[in-house]
Amino acid sequence: MKTVHVALGARAYDVQIGAGVLENAGEMLLPLLPRKRVVIVSDDTVAKAHLGALQAVLETSGIAWESLTLPPGEATKCWRELEHVVEWLLARKVERRDVVVALGGGVIGDLVGFAAAILRRGVRFVQIPTSLLAQVDSSVGGKTGINSPSGKNLVGAFHQPSLVLADIAVLDTLTDRDFLAGYGEVVKYGLLGDATFFDWLESNADAIRRRDRAALTHAVGRSVEMKAEIVARDETEQGDRALLNLGHTFCHALESATGYSDRLLHGEGVAIGCGLAFELSSRLGLCAQEDPSRLRAHLKQMGMKVDLADIPGDLPSAEALYALMGQDKKVLDGAIRFILARGIGQAFVTADVPRETVLAVLEDGLRRR
Ligand SMILES: NC(=O)c1ccc[n+]([C@@H]2O[C@H](COP(=O)([O-])OP(=O)(O)OC[C@H]3O[C@@H](n4cnc5c(N)ncnc54)[C@H](O)[C@@H]3O)[C@@H](O)[C@H]2O)c1
Repeated sequence: MKTVHVALGARAYDVQIGAGVLENAGEMLLPLLPRKRVVIVSDDTVAKAHLGALQAVLETSGIAWESLTLPPGEATKCWRELEHVVEWLLARKVERRDVVVALGGGVIGDLVGFAAAILRRGVRFVQIPTSLLAQVDSSVGGKTGINSPSGKNLVGAFHQPSLVLADIAVLDTLTDRDFLAGYGEVVKYGLLGDATFFDWLESNADAIRRRDRAALTHAVGRSVEMKAEIVARDETEQGDRALLNLGHTFCHALESATGYSDRLLHGEGVAIGCGLAFELSSRLGLCAQEDPSRLRAHLKQMGMKVDLADIPGDLPSAEALYALMGQDKKVLDGAIRFILARGIGQAFVTADVPRETVLAVLEDGLRRR
Protein backbone atom coordinates (compact mmCIF):
# COMPACT_ATOMS: atom_id res chain seq x y z
CA MET A 1 0.00 0.00 0.00
CA LYS A 2 1.30 3.44 -0.88
CA THR A 3 0.04 6.91 0.01
CA VAL A 4 0.77 9.90 -2.20
CA HIS A 5 -0.03 13.32 -0.77
CA VAL A 6 -1.17 16.02 -3.18
CA ALA A 7 0.13 19.17 -1.48
CA LEU A 8 -2.38 21.84 -2.38
CA GLY A 9 -2.74 23.72 0.91
CA ALA A 10 -6.39 23.90 1.94
CA ARG A 11 -7.27 21.61 -0.98
CA ALA A 12 -4.64 18.95 -0.19
CA TYR A 13 -5.61 15.27 -0.25
CA ASP A 14 -4.20 11.76 -0.25
CA VAL A 15 -4.19 9.11 -2.96
CA GLN A 16 -4.19 5.58 -1.50
CA ILE A 17 -2.76 3.01 -3.89
CA GLY A 18 -2.58 -0.78 -3.57
CA ALA A 19 -4.33 -4.10 -4.02
CA GLY A 20 -7.28 -4.27 -1.63
CA VAL A 21 -7.58 -0.53 -0.86
CA LEU A 22 -11.34 -0.76 -1.34
CA GLU A 23 -11.64 -3.21 1.55
CA ASN A 24 -10.79 -0.27 3.81
CA ALA A 25 -12.92 2.30 1.97
CA GLY A 26 -15.38 2.66 4.86
CA GLU A 27 -12.68 3.49 7.41
CA MET A 28 -11.00 5.92 5.04
CA LEU A 29 -14.26 7.68 4.19
CA LEU A 30 -15.57 7.98 7.76
CA PRO A 31 -13.37 10.97 8.76
CA LEU A 32 -14.84 12.90 5.81
CA LEU A 33 -18.47 12.24 6.73
CA PRO A 34 -20.37 14.43 9.19
CA ARG A 35 -23.33 12.13 8.62
CA LYS A 36 -22.77 8.50 7.78
CA ARG A 37 -24.02 8.37 4.23
CA VAL A 38 -22.62 8.71 0.71
CA VAL A 39 -24.03 8.86 -2.79
CA ILE A 40 -22.21 6.87 -5.46
CA VAL A 41 -22.24 7.38 -9.23
CA SER A 42 -20.81 4.70 -11.50
CA ASP A 43 -21.25 3.21 -14.96
CA ASP A 44 -23.08 -0.04 -15.72
CA THR A 45 -19.95 -2.08 -16.51
CA VAL A 46 -18.02 -0.98 -13.42
CA ALA A 47 -21.11 -1.25 -11.21
CA LYS A 48 -21.66 -4.85 -12.28
CA ALA A 49 -18.08 -5.77 -11.36
CA HIS A 50 -17.36 -3.64 -8.27
CA LEU A 51 -20.31 -1.71 -6.83
CA GLY A 52 -21.59 -4.62 -4.75
CA ALA A 53 -18.24 -5.01 -2.97
CA LEU A 54 -18.08 -1.28 -2.23
CA GLN A 55 -21.63 -1.24 -0.88
CA ALA A 56 -20.86 -4.22 1.39
CA VAL A 57 -17.75 -2.50 2.79
CA LEU A 58 -19.69 0.71 3.44
CA GLU A 59 -22.41 -1.21 5.27
CA THR A 60 -19.79 -2.85 7.49
CA SER A 61 -18.71 0.66 8.53
CA GLY A 62 -22.32 1.74 9.10
CA ILE A 63 -22.32 4.11 6.11
CA ALA A 64 -25.64 4.34 4.24
CA TRP A 65 -25.43 4.64 0.45
CA GLU A 66 -27.53 5.34 -2.61
CA SER A 67 -26.23 4.77 -6.10
CA LEU A 68 -26.83 5.83 -9.68
CA THR A 69 -25.38 4.03 -12.69
CA LEU A 70 -24.98 5.52 -16.15
CA PRO A 71 -24.23 3.98 -19.54
CA PRO A 72 -20.49 3.34 -20.06
CA GLY A 73 -18.55 5.25 -22.70
CA GLU A 74 -17.33 8.71 -23.68
CA ALA A 75 -20.82 9.78 -24.85
CA THR A 76 -21.88 9.87 -21.19
CA LYS A 77 -19.65 12.92 -20.58
CA CYS A 78 -22.36 15.21 -21.97
CA TRP A 79 -24.77 17.99 -20.95
CA ARG A 80 -27.72 15.60 -20.69
CA GLU A 81 -26.00 13.20 -18.28
CA LEU A 82 -24.60 16.16 -16.32
CA GLU A 83 -28.16 17.40 -15.76
CA HIS A 84 -29.23 13.86 -14.92
CA VAL A 85 -26.51 13.50 -12.25
CA VAL A 86 -27.04 16.97 -10.76
CA GLU A 87 -30.84 16.56 -10.53
CA TRP A 88 -30.40 13.08 -9.06
CA LEU A 89 -28.03 14.48 -6.40
CA LEU A 90 -30.46 17.31 -5.62
CA ALA A 91 -33.33 14.83 -5.31
CA ARG A 92 -31.19 12.89 -2.80
CA LYS A 93 -30.84 16.19 -0.88
CA VAL A 94 -27.06 16.10 -1.09
CA GLU A 95 -25.76 19.06 0.90
CA ARG A 96 -22.45 20.92 0.82
CA ARG A 97 -20.96 18.88 3.67
CA ASP A 98 -21.89 15.58 2.01
CA VAL A 99 -19.57 13.48 -0.12
CA VAL A 100 -20.24 12.25 -3.64
CA VAL A 101 -18.31 9.15 -4.73
CA ALA A 102 -17.25 8.67 -8.37
CA LEU A 103 -16.68 4.94 -8.98
CA GLY A 104 -15.39 4.35 -12.50
CA GLY A 105 -12.97 5.33 -15.23
CA GLY A 106 -12.09 8.81 -16.45
CA VAL A 107 -15.54 9.37 -17.92
CA ILE A 108 -17.31 8.93 -14.58
CA GLY A 109 -14.56 10.79 -12.68
CA ASP A 110 -14.68 13.82 -14.99
CA LEU A 111 -18.49 13.97 -15.15
CA VAL A 112 -19.17 13.36 -11.46
CA GLY A 113 -16.34 15.67 -10.40
CA PHE A 114 -17.87 18.44 -12.51
CA ALA A 115 -21.35 17.76 -11.12
CA ALA A 116 -19.84 18.03 -7.60
CA ALA A 117 -18.09 21.27 -8.58
CA ILE A 118 -21.32 23.01 -9.61
CA LEU A 119 -23.80 21.43 -7.20
CA ARG A 120 -24.62 24.05 -4.53
CA ARG A 121 -21.47 25.87 -5.73
CA GLY A 122 -19.31 22.92 -4.79
CA VAL A 123 -19.68 19.74 -2.74
CA ARG A 124 -16.84 17.41 -1.84
CA PHE A 125 -16.19 14.30 -3.86
CA VAL A 126 -14.08 11.17 -3.63
CA GLN A 127 -12.57 9.47 -6.65
CA ILE A 128 -12.49 5.68 -6.80
CA PRO A 129 -10.77 5.26 -10.17
CA THR A 130 -11.27 1.81 -11.70
CA SER A 131 -9.40 2.06 -15.02
CA LEU A 132 -5.62 2.25 -15.26
CA LEU A 133 -5.95 5.59 -17.06
CA ALA A 134 -8.10 7.00 -14.27
CA GLN A 135 -5.75 5.72 -11.55
CA VAL A 136 -2.61 7.26 -13.03
CA ASP A 137 -4.08 10.39 -14.53
CA SER A 138 -7.66 11.61 -14.50
CA SER A 139 -8.51 11.00 -10.81
CA VAL A 140 -5.63 13.17 -9.58
CA GLY A 141 -5.28 16.89 -10.19
CA GLY A 142 -8.84 18.18 -10.13
CA LYS A 143 -9.60 18.65 -13.82
CA THR A 144 -13.29 17.86 -14.25
CA GLY A 145 -15.67 18.40 -17.12
CA ILE A 146 -17.75 17.21 -20.02
CA ASN A 147 -17.61 17.29 -23.81
CA SER A 148 -19.63 19.80 -25.83
CA PRO A 149 -20.84 19.37 -29.40
CA SER A 150 -18.03 21.86 -30.19
CA GLY A 151 -15.30 19.62 -28.81
CA LYS A 152 -13.89 17.40 -26.10
CA ASN A 153 -13.46 18.62 -22.51
CA LEU A 154 -14.50 22.16 -23.46
CA VAL A 155 -16.77 22.65 -20.45
CA GLY A 156 -15.40 22.09 -16.98
CA ALA A 157 -13.89 23.29 -13.74
CA PHE A 158 -10.92 22.70 -11.50
CA HIS A 159 -12.33 20.88 -8.48
CA GLN A 160 -10.00 18.76 -6.38
CA PRO A 161 -11.29 15.53 -4.83
CA SER A 162 -11.06 15.08 -1.05
CA LEU A 163 -9.58 11.58 -1.35
CA VAL A 164 -8.61 9.15 -4.11
CA LEU A 165 -8.77 5.38 -3.57
CA ALA A 166 -6.90 3.50 -6.31
CA ASP A 167 -7.38 -0.23 -5.78
CA ILE A 168 -5.02 -2.18 -8.05
CA ALA A 169 -7.20 -5.30 -7.70
CA VAL A 170 -10.11 -3.72 -9.62
CA LEU A 171 -7.88 -3.50 -12.71
CA ASP A 172 -8.25 -7.31 -13.07
CA THR A 173 -11.62 -6.87 -14.79
CA LEU A 174 -10.47 -4.31 -17.40
CA THR A 175 -10.31 -5.48 -21.01
CA ASP A 176 -6.78 -5.85 -22.42
CA ARG A 177 -7.42 -2.95 -24.75
CA ASP A 178 -8.51 -0.56 -21.98
CA PHE A 179 -5.64 -1.74 -19.80
CA LEU A 180 -3.03 -1.06 -22.49
CA ALA A 181 -4.60 2.28 -23.36
CA GLY A 182 -4.14 3.31 -19.72
CA TYR A 183 -0.57 2.08 -19.89
CA GLY A 184 0.07 4.71 -22.58
CA GLU A 185 -0.25 7.34 -19.83
CA VAL A 186 2.11 5.39 -17.52
CA VAL A 187 4.82 5.37 -20.18
CA LYS A 188 4.25 9.10 -20.63
CA TYR A 189 5.42 9.78 -17.06
CA GLY A 190 8.72 7.98 -17.62
CA LEU A 191 9.23 9.84 -20.89
CA LEU A 192 8.42 13.27 -19.53
CA GLY A 193 10.42 13.28 -16.33
CA ASP A 194 11.96 10.05 -15.04
CA ALA A 195 14.34 8.02 -17.20
CA THR A 196 14.91 5.56 -14.33
CA PHE A 197 11.18 4.84 -14.25
CA PHE A 198 11.20 4.26 -18.02
CA ASP A 199 14.11 1.78 -17.56
CA TRP A 200 12.08 0.06 -14.84
CA LEU A 201 9.04 -0.18 -17.13
CA GLU A 202 11.18 -1.76 -19.87
CA SER A 203 12.58 -4.32 -17.43
CA ASN A 204 9.18 -5.12 -15.93
CA ALA A 205 7.13 -5.22 -19.13
CA ASP A 206 6.14 -8.88 -18.66
CA ALA A 207 5.01 -8.43 -15.06
CA ILE A 208 2.96 -5.38 -16.03
CA ARG A 209 1.34 -7.20 -18.94
CA ARG A 210 0.41 -10.02 -16.55
CA ARG A 211 -1.05 -7.32 -14.25
CA ASP A 212 1.19 -8.44 -11.44
CA ARG A 213 -0.11 -6.48 -8.48
CA ALA A 214 3.22 -5.52 -6.94
CA ALA A 215 4.49 -4.27 -10.31
CA LEU A 216 1.28 -2.34 -10.94
CA THR A 217 1.34 -0.80 -7.47
CA HIS A 218 4.81 0.54 -8.23
CA ALA A 219 3.85 1.73 -11.73
CA VAL A 220 0.67 3.48 -10.55
CA GLY A 221 2.40 4.81 -7.43
CA ARG A 222 5.29 6.39 -9.32
CA SER A 223 2.94 7.84 -11.96
CA VAL A 224 0.71 9.40 -9.30
CA GLU A 225 3.74 10.76 -7.42
CA MET A 226 4.89 12.53 -10.56
CA LYS A 227 1.46 13.88 -11.34
CA ALA A 228 0.97 15.06 -7.74
CA GLU A 229 4.30 16.84 -7.77
CA ILE A 230 3.56 18.67 -11.03
CA VAL A 231 -0.01 19.57 -9.98
CA ALA A 232 1.25 20.93 -6.64
CA ARG A 233 3.67 23.19 -8.58
CA ASP A 234 1.10 24.36 -11.11
CA GLU A 235 -2.49 23.53 -10.20
CA THR A 236 -4.24 25.45 -12.98
CA GLU A 237 -1.75 24.81 -15.82
CA GLN A 238 -0.05 28.17 -16.12
CA GLY A 239 3.32 26.49 -16.77
CA ASP A 240 4.82 23.11 -15.87
CA ARG A 241 1.54 21.20 -15.81
CA ALA A 242 1.57 21.38 -19.60
CA LEU A 243 4.35 18.74 -19.49
CA LEU A 244 1.61 16.23 -18.68
CA ASN A 245 0.37 16.83 -22.21
CA LEU A 246 3.34 15.05 -23.77
CA GLY A 247 1.95 13.29 -26.84
CA HIS A 248 -1.44 14.97 -26.43
CA THR A 249 -1.27 17.60 -29.19
CA PHE A 250 -0.79 14.81 -31.75
CA CYS A 251 -3.28 12.63 -29.86
CA HIS A 252 -6.07 15.22 -29.91
CA ALA A 253 -5.68 15.69 -33.68
CA LEU A 254 -5.83 11.90 -34.17
CA GLU A 255 -8.84 11.52 -31.87
CA SER A 256 -10.61 14.28 -33.74
CA ALA A 257 -9.70 12.71 -37.12
CA THR A 258 -11.09 9.35 -35.99
CA GLY A 259 -14.27 10.93 -34.60
CA TYR A 260 -13.52 10.04 -30.94
CA SER A 261 -14.56 6.53 -31.87
CA ASP A 262 -13.47 3.02 -31.03
CA ARG A 263 -10.88 3.31 -33.79
CA LEU A 264 -8.57 5.03 -31.34
CA LEU A 265 -8.83 5.16 -27.55
CA HIS A 266 -7.39 8.20 -25.78
CA GLY A 267 -4.47 6.31 -24.20
CA GLU A 268 -3.65 4.66 -27.53
CA GLY A 269 -3.49 8.12 -29.10
CA VAL A 270 -1.23 9.29 -26.27
CA ALA A 271 1.22 6.43 -26.91
CA ILE A 272 1.31 7.12 -30.66
CA GLY A 273 1.52 10.86 -29.92
CA CYS A 274 4.52 10.33 -27.61
CA GLY A 275 6.21 8.40 -30.42
CA LEU A 276 5.58 11.32 -32.81
CA ALA A 277 6.79 13.88 -30.24
CA PHE A 278 10.05 11.94 -29.81
CA GLU A 279 10.44 11.54 -33.57
CA LEU A 280 9.97 15.30 -33.92
CA SER A 281 12.47 15.97 -31.12
CA SER A 282 15.01 13.72 -32.78
CA ARG A 283 14.59 15.41 -36.18
CA LEU A 284 15.08 18.78 -34.55
CA GLY A 285 18.36 17.48 -33.16
CA LEU A 286 17.11 17.74 -29.58
CA CYS A 287 17.39 14.09 -28.61
CA ALA A 288 19.32 11.05 -29.83
CA GLN A 289 17.95 9.13 -32.81
CA GLU A 290 17.85 6.01 -30.61
CA ASP A 291 15.26 7.54 -28.25
CA PRO A 292 12.20 7.29 -30.56
CA SER A 293 13.30 3.76 -31.58
CA ARG A 294 13.62 2.71 -27.96
CA LEU A 295 10.15 4.04 -27.16
CA ARG A 296 8.61 2.27 -30.14
CA ALA A 297 10.33 -0.98 -29.18
CA HIS A 298 8.85 -0.78 -25.67
CA LEU A 299 5.33 -0.06 -26.93
CA LYS A 300 5.65 -3.02 -29.34
CA GLN A 301 6.94 -5.21 -26.51
CA MET A 302 3.71 -4.35 -24.62
CA GLY A 303 1.54 -5.22 -27.65
CA MET A 304 0.37 -1.63 -28.10
CA LYS A 305 -0.43 0.55 -31.08
CA VAL A 306 2.79 2.34 -32.00
CA ASP A 307 2.44 4.13 -35.35
CA LEU A 308 -0.12 5.99 -37.45
CA ALA A 309 -0.20 2.75 -39.48
CA ASP A 310 -1.74 0.94 -36.49
CA ILE A 311 -4.89 3.11 -36.59
CA PRO A 312 -7.55 1.31 -38.63
CA GLY A 313 -9.36 3.12 -41.44
CA ASP A 314 -8.45 6.26 -43.37
CA LEU A 315 -6.64 9.24 -41.89
CA PRO A 316 -6.62 12.77 -43.30
CA SER A 317 -3.50 14.31 -44.88
CA ALA A 318 -0.58 15.67 -42.84
CA GLU A 319 -1.81 19.23 -43.58
CA ALA A 320 -5.28 18.38 -42.26
CA LEU A 321 -3.83 16.75 -39.13
CA TYR A 322 -1.70 19.84 -38.55
CA ALA A 323 -4.80 22.02 -38.84
CA LEU A 324 -6.52 19.82 -36.23
CA MET A 325 -3.53 20.27 -33.93
CA GLY A 326 -4.10 24.01 -34.21
CA GLN A 327 -7.58 23.57 -32.72
CA ASP A 328 -6.22 22.06 -29.53
CA LYS A 329 -7.37 24.10 -26.56
CA LYS A 330 -3.78 24.40 -25.37
CA VAL A 331 -2.94 26.61 -28.34
CA LEU A 332 -1.81 30.01 -27.01
CA ASP A 333 -2.22 33.16 -29.15
CA GLY A 334 -2.48 30.98 -32.25
CA ALA A 335 0.85 29.18 -31.66
CA ILE A 336 0.75 25.42 -31.19
CA ARG A 337 2.63 24.50 -28.04
CA PHE A 338 4.58 21.26 -28.31
CA ILE A 339 5.98 19.14 -25.55
CA LEU A 340 9.34 17.97 -26.88
CA ALA A 341 12.22 16.14 -25.23
CA ARG A 342 15.99 16.41 -24.91
CA GLY A 343 16.01 12.70 -24.13
CA ILE A 344 13.95 10.12 -22.29
CA GLY A 345 12.83 11.76 -19.04
CA GLN A 346 13.61 15.31 -20.19
CA ALA A 347 10.51 16.94 -21.65
CA PHE A 348 9.96 20.68 -22.04
CA VAL A 349 7.34 23.00 -23.53
CA THR A 350 7.95 25.09 -26.64
CA ALA A 351 5.98 26.90 -29.31
CA ASP A 352 9.08 27.27 -31.45
CA VAL A 353 8.70 24.35 -33.84
CA PRO A 354 8.91 24.73 -37.63
CA ARG A 355 5.68 23.71 -39.32
CA GLU A 356 7.59 21.90 -42.09
CA THR A 357 9.31 19.56 -39.65
CA VAL A 358 5.99 18.60 -38.05
CA LEU A 359 4.49 18.02 -41.50
CA ALA A 360 7.47 15.86 -42.50
CA VAL A 361 7.07 13.67 -39.40
CA LEU A 362 3.34 13.25 -40.09
CA GLU A 363 3.88 12.60 -43.81
CA ASP A 364 6.45 9.89 -43.10
CA GLY A 365 4.10 8.29 -40.60
CA LEU A 366 1.21 8.37 -43.08
CA ARG A 367 3.42 6.98 -45.87
CA ARG A 368 4.16 3.88 -43.79
CA ARG A 369 0.42 3.04 -43.73
N1 LIG B 1 -9.42 14.89 -15.78
C1 LIG B 1 -8.27 14.59 -16.29
O1 LIG B 1 -7.22 15.09 -15.88
C2 LIG B 1 -8.21 13.57 -17.40
C3 LIG B 1 -6.98 13.06 -17.80
C4 LIG B 1 -6.97 12.06 -18.78
C5 LIG B 1 -8.15 11.63 -19.34
N2 LIG B 1 -9.32 12.18 -18.92
C6 LIG B 1 -10.60 11.71 -19.49
O2 LIG B 1 -10.76 10.34 -19.10
C7 LIG B 1 -11.62 9.70 -20.05
C8 LIG B 1 -11.04 8.36 -20.40
O3 LIG B 1 -10.92 7.58 -19.24
P1 LIG B 1 -11.02 6.00 -19.29
O4 LIG B 1 -10.08 5.47 -20.29
O5 LIG B 1 -10.94 5.52 -17.90
O6 LIG B 1 -12.46 5.81 -19.93
P2 LIG B 1 -13.81 5.18 -19.37
O7 LIG B 1 -14.23 5.78 -18.10
O8 LIG B 1 -14.76 5.23 -20.52
O9 LIG B 1 -13.40 3.67 -19.10
C9 LIG B 1 -13.03 2.84 -20.19
C10 LIG B 1 -13.90 1.60 -20.22
O10 LIG B 1 -13.49 0.74 -19.19
C11 LIG B 1 -14.60 0.34 -18.40
N3 LIG B 1 -14.08 0.13 -17.06
C12 LIG B 1 -13.58 1.04 -16.20
N4 LIG B 1 -13.09 0.43 -15.11
C13 LIG B 1 -13.31 -0.91 -15.28
C14 LIG B 1 -13.01 -2.07 -14.52
N5 LIG B 1 -12.34 -2.00 -13.35
N6 LIG B 1 -13.40 -3.27 -15.01
C15 LIG B 1 -14.03 -3.37 -16.20
N7 LIG B 1 -14.31 -2.32 -16.99
C16 LIG B 1 -13.95 -1.11 -16.53
C17 LIG B 1 -15.61 1.45 -18.53
O11 LIG B 1 -16.92 0.99 -18.30
C18 LIG B 1 -15.40 1.85 -19.99
O12 LIG B 1 -16.12 1.02 -20.82
C19 LIG B 1 -11.74 10.65 -21.22
O13 LIG B 1 -13.00 11.24 -21.19
C20 LIG B 1 -10.65 11.69 -20.97
O14 LIG B 1 -10.99 12.96 -21.47
C21 LIG B 1 -9.37 13.12 -17.97
